[in-house]
Order: sequence, then structure tokens, then C-alpha cells
Amino acid sequence: MSTPTPSPQGKTPHHGTRLDPWFDAYAERAHNLRASEIRALFSVVSRPEVVSLAGGMPNLKDLPLDRLAASAERLITRHGAQAMQYGSGQGWEVLRERITEVMTYDGIIGADPDNVVVTTGSQQALDLVTELFVDPGDVVLAEAPSYVGALGVFRARQADVIHVPMDEHGLIPEALVETIRNARAAGKTIKFIYIVPNYHNPAGVTLSLERRPVIAEICMRERILIVEDNPYGLLGFHSDPLPALKSFSPEGVVYLGSFSKMFAPGFRIGWAYAPHAIRAKLVLASESAILCPSMVGQMAIADYLGDYDWYGQVKSFRAMYAERCKAMLDSLAEYIPDCRWTVPEGGFYTWVTLPDGLDAKAMLPRAVRARVAYVAGTAFYYDGQGNDHMRLSFCYPTPERIREGVRRLSTVVNAEKDIVDMFGTGDNPSSR
Ligand SMILES: Cc1ncc(COP(=O)(O)O)c(C=O)c1O
Repeated sequence: MSTPTPSPQGKTPHHGTRLDPWFDAYAERAHNLRASEIRALFSVVSRPEVVSLAGGMPNLKDLPLDRLAASAERLITRHGAQAMQYGSGQGWEVLRERITEVMTYDGIIGADPDNVVVTTGSQQALDLVTELFVDPGDVVLAEAPSYVGALGVFRARQADVIHVPMDEHGLIPEALVETIRNARAAGKTIKFIYIVPNYHNPAGVTLSLERRPVIAEICMRERILIVEDNPYGLLGFHSDPLPALKSFSPEGVVYLGSFSKMFAPGFRIGWAYAPHAIRAKLVLASESAILCPSMVGQMAIADYLGDYDWYGQVKSFRAMYAERCKAMLDSLAEYIPDCRWTVPEGGFYTWVTLPDGLDAKAMLPRAVRARVAYVAGTAFYYDGQGNDHMRLSFCYPTPERIREGVRRLSTVVNAEKDIVDMFGTGDNPSSR
């Protein structure tokens, strides 16, 4: 890669390559786009000999594919002209109605379908909210750590992210108050806080019931919008979801939902449920980005929700993920007791703290050589922290593969730890 030099227009120097003849023509924000650390790993970890504890793909082995095939055929034969046509920018009203029923499981009762905007995955909803609220340099507050895909959106939209500490009960209210105070004292403009309250990606923790109204109240008082991202909410192993932040602060929260984990990501359908005025702007922004979400995808999902025991399917997903999570936690306790990890009550991930002196990013090539992969903690921070953490996902491999993956990982961690114990961190190959 060539060294970036200042552009003739005197703009700040950018990362990129001058082999690209258009290098100097890109907008400032285009230079903020980065490949996610997870995507960069994809080609290596998809080799069959590698146990990937890296990706967060939902496990679709139990999806009723025959039923979905019959539904798709019925949809096209009976309603093909509508399914293959453009639809409303806000989303199909039948689906918006069914989405309000899905949200009752999160304690959002009596939702108005008119305040739902259907999007291309909740990822697009997050991008739209950020587009609407963030000018370059504005602050977005986010948990420490935070979802890598959200950090990518914030970076692309030229936000400045300030992380707020969490513990095993989720975001810490006192730390939130202090972060707001410090940011404002430094002259920063905070536009919203991004929170994943349930079965957090990557931290694996859940925001406690006691903290939810407290955080809603702090944000209301400080006039900070909450963006509540809840793709995993229905995937609690043994319990129904806690009430959403949205249920405590209807006017102060934009709630983002997704069918990707409770059903499947293939149709790329998610939604935002927003206060009315924000909803109106979201529709305009979405129309300008995509005109309308996929009609055929919306109709297929509405059919699945209306005609199938989708909640029974969710329960079978829960049992599968619970078994895999147990395999992960038992193997960690057996093979790498020197690490610490969070104990998820749902979702896909556990967040592992390495023994002192080990560096997850530097260790990754050695792990891949030992045929196991994870995501280094640095991917989940805006500012390069997180070296001493890794995210392990248990959603995809079988319990046996998870055990084998953790066993392989233990050989790498233990070898690194031996070196650190013997020579101190200065001689640790991880820190080079
Ligand atoms: C926390 C979080 N938010 C949003 C998304 C994106 O979901 P969707 O497929 O609905 O765009 C993901 C996907 O992994 C996620 O983990």
C-alpha cells in the first residue's frame, strides 16, 4: 500500500491507495469506510478445517424450508403482480401491523403501525437514523464494547463515538451521567446513544430490569435520543424478553427490530419504530436511499408471521442456542480457566477477557494456524481499545465443534501465557 500524501486541495491525508486513479476525487466520508475486522477474516475462517468462533451468522438448520418453499410458490402464483412490484416507501401495511404484534413480546403494547418503517435489515434503519441526526463531528454514545456494524455506520457518517462503560448488568447509569457531563464540558454535541439491551453483541450481557427505567429517565432529562437495537431480544435461553427501553420512554426512543436472528436474514427485512415526527423523516430518507423495501420479502415474512407457528420456531432456536452456549461455557471452564468470560442468558456471544499481558489481535494468526478463529476485541471499540478481549460466538458450530474449537484455542492461549509468565509482557510475541 502506498503512503497517503496530502491532497492538492489541502484536505486531511487519507488512508487508501494511489493505485486507485480516483483517490483524490472521493468525498471525505468515503475515506472513513473500512472493511470490518470480521469481514477481513471471512476467507480464512470459512475453510472447513478451521473452527470458526468468529462469525455471528444465525444457525438456520431448523428452518422449515419446505414450508417456506410452499409459501413462496403460493405468493408468486396468487399475488405475483403485487409481490414483484414497487411498494410503499414506509413498508407494506400488512407487515407493519404484524410487526406491532411481534413487538408486544418486548413489552411494547398498542404500538401504532403508522410509526413503523420497514427497512432493508435493521442495519439500514441504523444508517438512516444516523444520517438524520449526525453532522460530521457530532457525538454518538455507545456501549463499551459496541456492535462492529454500528461503529462502521457511525464512522461512515463521520460521527465521533464516545464509549460508555458496561458491566455484567449492561450499561452503567452512573457512568452514563459522567460521560455526558464530560463530553458536554469538552464542548461536544451528543446526538444519541446507541444501546443493544438484550444479549449484547459482542458483550453477551443483558441490561437489567432495574436499570432500564433509570437509563430512559437520564436520557429524557438530558434530552438525548436513545437508539435501541434489539435483534436478539426473542432469543433468551430460558426467559421471555425484558420490557424494551421504548416501553419506558415512548417519545425518547427509536426502536430497531430485525427478522434476521428470530427468523432468517435472507429477505433482509428489519424495521424502525419511532416517534411520529422522526418516523416521517425516516420514510423520506429511506425513499431517497432505496425507494422502498423489497415487496416480495415483506410479503413472505408477513405470510410466515401470519400463517406459521413462528413463536414455536423461535423457541426451538432458543433451545439450540442454549445447548451451544452451554458447550461453550463448559469448555471454557475446562480448557481455559485462566480467562474470564460473560455468561449470556441468550443470543450468540460471550465476551472473553484474556489473562494479563495477552493481546487478542496479535494472537489471532497463531490461533488460525491452530485452526480456530475468533474476533479480537479491538473490532468493537472506536478507539483501538479491546486488545485484551475476544468475542467468541457459539451460534453456528455444533456443540462438538465448539468444544474442539475451545480446546484448540486453549493451546494458543496457554502457550502465550507461558511466555508472558516467563519473560513478562515485553517479550510476549503477542505484543509485537
Ligand atoms: C446488534 C446488531 N444490530 C444489527 C444487526 C444487523 O441486523 P440486520 O440483519 O437486521 O441488518 C446485527 C447483525 O449481526 C447485530 O448484531
